[in-house]
Amino acid sequence: MASVSFSALFLSVILQTALLCSIGSSQTTGFTSIDCGSDSVSNYIDENGIQWLSDSNLMSEGTSVVLSDTNISRVVSTMRLFNGSQSKYCYNLSNSAVRTDDFLLVRATIFPGVNPPYSPRNPDGYFRFTMIIDADQWWDVKVRSGDDTRLTYDAYVRAKRSHIDVCFARITPNGDAPFISALELRPLPNTLTSTTIMNLTDRFLVCLEHANVGVPQSGPSYVRFPDDTLDRYWTSYKAPDSNLSSTQETIKMSTDSEKLPEKILQNSLTGSPGLTLSWTELEADVAHYVQFYFSEVDPFVNASGMRLFNIFQSGELVTFDGPVDVFATVGANAAFSCPTIVTSNAAGAMEFTFTPLANSTFPAFLAAFDLFQLRGSNSLTPTSISE
Ligand SMILES: *[C@@H]1O[C@H](CO)[C@@H](O)[C@H](O)[C@H]1NC(C)=O
Ligand SMILES: *[C@@H]1O[C@H](CO)[C@@H](O)[C@H](O)[C@H]1NC(C)=O
Ligand SMILES: *[C@@H]1O[C@H](CO)[C@@H](O)[C@H](O)[C@H]1NC(C)=O
Ligand SMILES: *[C@@H]1O[C@H](CO)[C@@H](O)[C@H](O)[C@H]1NC(C)=O
Ligand SMILES: *[C@@H]1O[C@H](CO)[C@@H](O)[C@H](O)[C@H]1NC(C)=O
Ligand SMILES: *[C@@H]1O[C@H](CO)[C@@H](O)[C@H](O)[C@H]1NC(C)=O
Ligand SMILES: *[C@@H]1O[C@H](CO)[C@@H](O)[C@H](O)[C@H]1NC(C)=O
Repeated sequence: MASVSFSALFLSVILQTALLCSIGSSQTTGFTSIDCGSDSVSNYIDENGIQWLSDSNLMSEGTSVVLSDTNISRVVSTMRLFNGSQSKYCYNLSNSAVRTDDFLLVRATIFPGVNPPYSPRNPDGYFRFTMIIDADQWWDVKVRSGDDTRLTYDAYVRAKRSHIDVCFARITPNGDAPFISALELRPLPNTLTSTTIMNLTDRFLVCLEHANVGVPQSGPSYVRFPDDTLDRYWTSYKAPDSNLSSTQETIKMSTDSEKLPEKILQNSLTGSPGLTLSWTELEADVAHYVQFYFSEVDPFVNASGMRLFNIFQSGELVTFDGPVDVFATVGANAAFSCPTIVTSNAAGAMEFTFTPLANSTFPAFLAAFDLFQLRGSNSLTPTSISE
């Protein structure tokens, strides 16, 4: 059985100065993009057509630091360092699209640079500080000093009012001073399953990964805006051509409420004949929301039951409404998704197996998935949802 392990917890985007795509200056309504620590005249449009503003009018605390690193993208070349004595430092983020009960993606970008502004307290060389959204604990940041990977932390939240407070704090009074390179807001349409889950559970979602699986070797290392209108960062998992099912045909997206970029659904990883997806280093015994994305792009699969598989999580059937049959459900070259909520085990691991039925002539497959942790103060009984 083909097996793919995922342990990367955050979307780490290797710095690239190369242009992903070149588009005109088409600033998208509702995007707020703050370049922290940059000077007040530094408002600019980047290579993706996104307009950046300095945080100088939003934040009077902290120190603006210019990194000495060369050959890094402009947005991470400055940071704001909160080395004062306040217990926390908050940005009040807003734009014309933020209203009470709206859903938003909140993104923090953290990049210590090769020559960070100070040395971490802990001799293990990691900076540690914490992030808070409104009153909710978001995530404890742990980032290695000298790492030239920029870390992006995404959360999906529901606005409690017409602005969102994003705060940074030391973990202990004596702990590392927080620092931040960029803060972003992106509106999320309420057609997404994730927004329904936030409503049902009264939780917010910490995004651990948007994964584009089954990408050809020549494919991009990630996909984001403008291919993804919501500006999610999809990390590529490349595979040899022999393990892929690919098409150049148009994918019918009218069946997709999740607003996926079409190119993500044009390539799938195929199993042999099953597929195993496993994660380690998750928080133990915590509810996670996972959504799998599919599109039947193999022209030889042209009847119901030809690619038929069940999904199990730790031996338990996730697809209890019946096996996945993408062709039977939406036809060829059309988007299909399958959400589920499961709990990580006591060791912080989670594993899914995709097992074809005995009469399935084609192997299991997968085009993409999202992995989120549900966070919030209320207790929640894990449930499974199948579509
Ligand atoms: C690719 O397919 C081969 C043979 O079917 C299998 O052994 C291998 O594990 C697959 N690789 C991936 C990355 O799925
Ligand atoms: C700068 O980065 C680009 C893209 O990563 C790379 O191709 C180039 O060699 C780098 N230049 C220097 C001077 O390091
Ligand atoms: C904060 O850091 C800046 C830049 O390194 C430094 O100039 C300043 O003295 C520091 N402030 C405190 C309170 O440590
Ligand atoms: C935050 O920003 C919003 C919108 O600009 C404003 O209405 C609100 O008063 C601000 N809140 C604080 C605490 O500054
Ligand atoms: C979420 O709940 C709010 C208020 O309770 C409601 O207005 C909204 O339509 C709901 N959205 C979704 C996507 O269920
Ligand atoms: C399905 O594909 C096979 C193999 O290409 C072909 O022989 C058959 O005619 C197709 N059936 C339909 C209903 O299109
Ligand atoms: C394949 O097997 C399943 C269960 O064993 C059965 O429900 C289904 O009808 C079969 N499909 C075909 C096309 O024979």
